[in-house]
Amino acid sequence: MDTLLLWVSVLASLLEAFAQTDLTGKVFVFPRESSTDHVTLTTHLEKPLQNFTLCFQAYSDLSRSYSLFSYNAQGKDNELLIFKENVGVYTLYIGRTKVTAKAAEDFPSPAHICASWESSSGIAEFWVNGKPLVRKGLRQGYSVEAHPKIVLGQEQDFYGGGFDRQQSFVGEIGELYMWDSVLSRKEILDVFHGSPVPKPNILDWRALNYEIKGYVIIKPLVWD
Ligand SMILES: *[C@@H]1O[C@H](CO)[C@@H](O)[C@H](O)[C@H]1NC(C)=O
Repeated sequence: MDTLLLWVSVLASLLEAFAQTDLTGKVFVFPRESSTDHVTLTTHLEKPLQNFTLCFQAYSDLSRSYSLFSYNAQGKDNELLIFKENVGVYTLYIGRTKVTAKAAEDFPSPAHICASWESSSGIAEFWVNGKPLVRKGLRQGYSVEAHPKIVLGQEQDFYGGGFDRQQSFVGEIGELYMWDSVLSRKEILDVFHGSPVPKPNILDWRALNYEIKGYVIIKPLVWD
């Protein structure tokens, strides 16, 4: 690498470090229904994922179905998607295949949600408010493609776009973390109680690289 290129890349990584924000105690508020408002999350995932855990808090009073977390890869729609079908009905898509799990839930009420998946067994887990839902399996042996576009607030029908207002999220999202491993029961409960250990190495609410597009507002968390 020549010196100029080296400095350019040093500068780029510095800028990136500055772009990370600690959102502890805050949430994204998606205050209206639209087919445009969303947040993109940036991560540097270079290798396909064999295992992951994703946790976040969400509060919505929508009674239709909606997207909670939309991860597309280039040319691969619904590579990893968390979709809420109905009150207490959670769907996880891995590589365009889906499983559904059901939780006893009040409506409307804030939920702490974790979803994990392990390629070697295909087992998918949902945890809602610290309680495990019945495990299902899908896509055993698959790997989730790297270099994602990750979108909150809308569901992608192609890489970074193709939104549908009927699948948009209206409500509040916070405390989002993602790991490239399957967390144990104890670790999930620690996250639920507010201490994400081990350190989230894909997405970390305390050092988040995000971009708001449209009408999405950051506000203090008031419902936890
Ligand atoms: C994924 O998890 C399996 C079993 O839990 C483990 O054997 C494997 O090494 C993990 N893969 C990666 C890339 O961490």
